[in-house]
Amino acid sequence: MAVIINGKAIAADIRNDIKQGVDELIKAGRRPPYLAVVLVGDDPASASYVQGKQKAAHEVGIQSDTRTYPDSITQADLVNVVHRLNDDSEVDGILVQLPLPDHIEYQRVIEAINPDKDVDCFHPENVGKLMLGLPGFKPATPAGIVELIKRSGIDIAGKRVVIIGRSNIVGKPLASLLIQKGVDATVTVCHSRTQNLPDITRRADILVAALGRAEFVTADMVKKGAAVIDVGINRVDDATKERGYRLVGDVKFDEVAEKASFITPVPGGVGPMTIALMLQNTLVAAQ
Ligand code: GUN
Repeated sequence: MAVIINGKAIAADIRNDIKQGVDELIKAGRRPPYLAVVLVGDDPASASYVQGKQKAAHEVGIQSDTRTYPDSITQADLVNVVHRLNDDSEVDGILVQLPLPDHIEYQRVIEAINPDKDVDCFHPENVGKLMLGLPGFKPATPAGIVELIKRSGIDIAGKRVVIIGRSNIVGKPLASLLIQKGVDATVTVCHSRTQNLPDITRRADILVAALGRAEFVTADMVKKGAAVIDVGINRVDDATKERGYRLVGDVKFDEVAEKASFITPVPGGVGPMTIALMLQNTLVAAQ
């Protein structure tokens, strides 16, 4: 039976460090860091993530407000919202919650964010710096995953990491972080067109599931003793729950836990780490 990695506890340690950093800024006479969150539309999952980020920010002493706009907002108006936040010297960090409605090219909105306030590390300039190994913001979910692996005592250097999913938010930047000098993983990125996927995933010392399909990774896809990191957060209907659904990851937890050496739960694994690392970026932006 695998060790269940406690992302909630590890994220709490990181948030403690962030709180100390914030306290030091304030002692030095600076105002508290300020994070502006932009939410478009009324998707319940997005609203819930934003609420979680806001709450965590307040707990570490980072001030934060969410600006909510209707689905009908135009791309031009949303870009203007971002420009006003760029120009506001009281705003240290800007986070535009994704996904955005289909009529908005999200890339245009991200490119509008001042790279120095881009706490998600989504702006092409910051993604480029990440790729080159230059100092700067770290993408929250990928950096959270690396931190989770390191703090669990799992060796990364020289190991074979297989990532399922090539998204701009997780798969691509995670591969980038893992191949940096000093991290030194050997990385394979798989996606919907990959052939013989189980053959590849079964070779992984560390398997990262980030494709967004409920319980996709089954025990037969995992090598005995592998570490399994589950990035998925999927809502599946469940009439026995008061809210009508439950959250599951991209990994079939019970059967994979029998075979893996380490596994992250959903919820309580990668999710809290994403928030903690985004707050760390906000502190860096304020510093
Ligand atoms: N949507 C899903 N994950 C994220 C994230 O990390 N940041 C933002 N802004 N939106 C998201």
